Amino acid sequence: MSARKTLDDARGIESWIINLRRQFHRRPELKYEEHETSALVRRTLDELGISYRAPIAETGVLATLGPKDGPCVALRADMDALPIHEEADVDFRSETPGKMHACGHDCHTAMLLGAARLLKEHESTLKGPVKLLFQPAEEGGAGADRMCQEKVLDAPRVQRIFGLHVWPTIPVGSIGSRTGTFLASAGEIDIVVHGLGGHAAMPQYTKDPVPAAAAIVTALQTLISRELDPLDSGVISITCFNAGSAYNVIPNDVHLKGTVRSLTLAGLKQLQERITSCAQSIAAAYRCTADVSFPGNDYPPTVNDAHCWELTQQIAANAIGAERVVQMAPVMGGEDFAYYVENGVPGCFVALGIGNRELGCVHSVHTPKFKVDESALAIGTALHVDFALRSQDELAG
Ligand code: NI
Repeated sequence: MSARKTLDDARGIESWIINLRRQFHRRPELKYEEHETSALVRRTLDELGISYRAPIAETGVLATLGPKDGPCVALRADMDALPIHEEADVDFRSETPGKMHACGHDCHTAMLLGAARLLKEHESTLKGPVKLLFQPAEEGGAGADRMCQEKVLDAPRVQRIFGLHVWPTIPVGSIGSRTGTFLASAGEIDIVVHGLGGHAAMPQYTKDPVPAAAAIVTALQTLISRELDPLDSGVISITCFNAGSAYNVIPNDVHLKGTVRSLTLAGLKQLQERITSCAQSIAAAYRCTADVSFPGNDYPPTVNDAHCWELTQQIAANAIGAERVVQMAPVMGGEDFAYYVENGVPGCFVALGIGNRELGCVHSVHTPKFKVDESALAIGTALHVDFALRSQDELAG
């Protein structure tokens, strides 16, 4: 079956895929709370006659098609939404105030179900098992790590894995990615600067944590500009600076939050060490103290296997044309797809173009107006199917 034919097949079920996507979109659920989403995934798999294991990692689903033996390939979708109030110009807007599929995981889940339907139609020709991973909690919850711990990559051992992510800066009809490190290692920063509050007219009786925290914010930027090799990449963004509540009261504490990123896990750890010592030393210089922690999960970088990217390009060239394959630079965003490849499975994470100026699909992921050109969904579905079929052809030799 050629990639072109697969795309025709995917377009044949496009309205079914879009309908599923809109159902997910209307009912967004945050990390590890994807109960309705998971139920709709399972119901759809039931309708398709595909068996699965669930729950895994709270709400995850592992569906398997094809024969027991032979080369095993995994395809992955994430299911969680974000705590954002939707303002997108669509008539299937989120029905849950303050929650939104603003990162397109509704599309990812619908496309993988589309692939499930097409693969089921060709199940007799599969050369080995195909595992479909519907995972929870990509957004900060490291759902992929939990899925790995619950052995989704084993018995049978997955030999290759692929994942797609909708990408607003790539025009619909194109895809992109790269060989090697594609996405960054990412973690969270939490700093509490403790001082001694008091009357704002008499600072001499206080240990004001506000200028201490301000100095810390500024100094952290010099870790990037003065300590990192200019040819290396890192980001520190302080995104919350919370202190006090009155015009004339110096607060006791300042609470800072932010993100730290690097293209390697070692680079991330090094930045974290320096953030800790800088914050503590600067706080001390201002007669304050600083508690520094890195809560949440430190995502490893997402590293693409050279051959899997090569195969992706061949499939895409066949389906949509070689001129529609974008060689991307690394991106400082993080992705927990990283855990699957970190567990030793060669894989490729692929950016699926959804940008379309005429339809207003120009907004970044993680913003309230984020909007998808849904004609991308058939392309993503077809890519998933061919990732599995072509990989099995190669691995079966
Ligand atoms: Ni995402």
